[in-house]
Amino acid sequence: MNYQAILQEAGIPALARVEGGIETRTPIDGSALGQLPANNPAAVEARIQASLSAFQTWRSVPAPLRGELLRRFAERVRQDKQALGRLISLEAGKILSEGLGEVQEVIDICDFAVGLSRQLYGLTIASERPGHHLLERWHPLGPVGVITAFNFPMAVWTWNAALALVCGDTVLWKPSEKTMLCALALHRRLEEVIAGFPAAPAAISQLLIGRRPVGEQLTDHPAVALVSATGSTAMGRALGPRVAARFGRTLLELGGNNAAIVGPTADVHLSLRAIVFAAVGTAGQRCTSLRRLFVHRSLLGALSPMLRKAYASLPIGSPLEAGTLVGPLIDGAAFEHMQSALGAARQAGATVVGGERVQPPGLGGGFYVRPALVEADQPIAVMSEETFAPILYVVPYDSFEGAVAMQNDVRQGLSSAIFTNDMREAEAFLSATGSDCGIANVNTGPSGAEIGGAFGGEKETGGGRESGSDSWKTYMRRQTQTVNYSRQMPLAQGVQFPVD
Ligand code: UN1
Repeated sequence: MNYQAILQEAGIPALARVEGGIETRTPIDGSALGQLPANNPAAVEARIQASLSAFQTWRSVPAPLRGELLRRFAERVRQDKQALGRLISLEAGKILSEGLGEVQEVIDICDFAVGLSRQLYGLTIASERPGHHLLERWHPLGPVGVITAFNFPMAVWTWNAALALVCGDTVLWKPSEKTMLCALALHRRLEEVIAGFPAAPAAISQLLIGRRPVGEQLTDHPAVALVSATGSTAMGRALGPRVAARFGRTLLELGGNNAAIVGPTADVHLSLRAIVFAAVGTAGQRCTSLRRLFVHRSLLGALSPMLRKAYASLPIGSPLEAGTLVGPLIDGAAFEHMQSALGAARQAGATVVGGERVQPPGLGGGFYVRPALVEADQPIAVMSEETFAPILYVVPYDSFEGAVAMQNDVRQGLSSAIFTNDMREAEAFLSATGSDCGIANVNTGPSGAEIGGAFGGEKETGGGRESGSDSWKTYMRRQTQTVNYSRQMPLAQGVQFPVD
């Protein structure tokens, strides 16, 4: 299928080359897909104001009716799953199965939001005063700014938007410049659904195209109640204080540096499959990708050759081709980062296997690499950095406590896993003294989370939680309410204040 056909099928017409526009390219061979004009500051301001005024209406629409909008959107996405999945492959470079998986994640979170629309529960609390009713209610928050990264160009926005919309908020989406077409295609489908939904003002969800200044305008605007941002720790470090300075709310999903421990009782074959998917899937460009592997010394002799063999035979090529497991890196800069991390590893005395550029025929402009294994006797400095590329550092360990300490000894805290059949070890890993991450798994890898659980991490990962469980509470404001239905006026804490 040629690129234009994929764009057309996804509903993106041939894009005009706009003077000064932002260019989007496919990582498959580096060729340009089109140019989109950036929104200027006046246009961004107008959209924020439109979002605020749409919020005045949307917040009063009953939540189950807001859920119905998401139900229709999910239906629309179901119909176009193939087209949207192919577009993700084209613009983000994921293999088709992962592109389709991402669209499924979009559908899943919408379904979750539909159910949630009848479950935005508050609490009733026992009051200490007679004839009083104490309760907690959740109200819509306001416009929500959503800043997303290239690597999950549809799902991460939907985690935020589906919940925000059901919660009665409005949404402003600033996607990565690298995956604007994915945003355009998905958002158009929502716009169509909104157009046929009389209860929904058109501006409940809007797209903002632009570079960093557009994100900054969103970040600094007092009308934007919550800024939910996915990206690097550096980005979060710049954004967080700016939102805090105006007492806005943030939901940060920043860098990960995920590890797995392979214990002495692990099922080695099961571990191998999980490790290779987690380290190599999406060409190592998930925030949940496995980057550090701690293997019990007794298993290293068995696991190492198996890993090397699996890595040597990985099919690398166009993500649109059946059978490919490793697609391209997003761009040349990603390739440079990978090479410099590997250079640092060599310098530190580690053994690097793979990592070289691969050039599939006809795709010379794409940055394809053989995923790299880096074997070291102990942790090396470069392991403490998140390099967004398929590099897996493999380090042996002797004691479980030592392995957990090495795992936790990084600034990031997103995801983690242990492979073991020892229930004591598994439970210790999941306990308060085990993994310090937002996600901890047993006998499955650190990536590929389902939407039903809360997603996010600790430390420099930013502390935010998106998607399932009670993450919806971030998108609402909590109100504690006391109702006196008696004819007396008792005060709390027994305070006396007689007034005639
Ligand atoms: C991300 O890389 O920003 O758990 C999100 C996973 C996916 C989401 C990753 N469901 O790997």
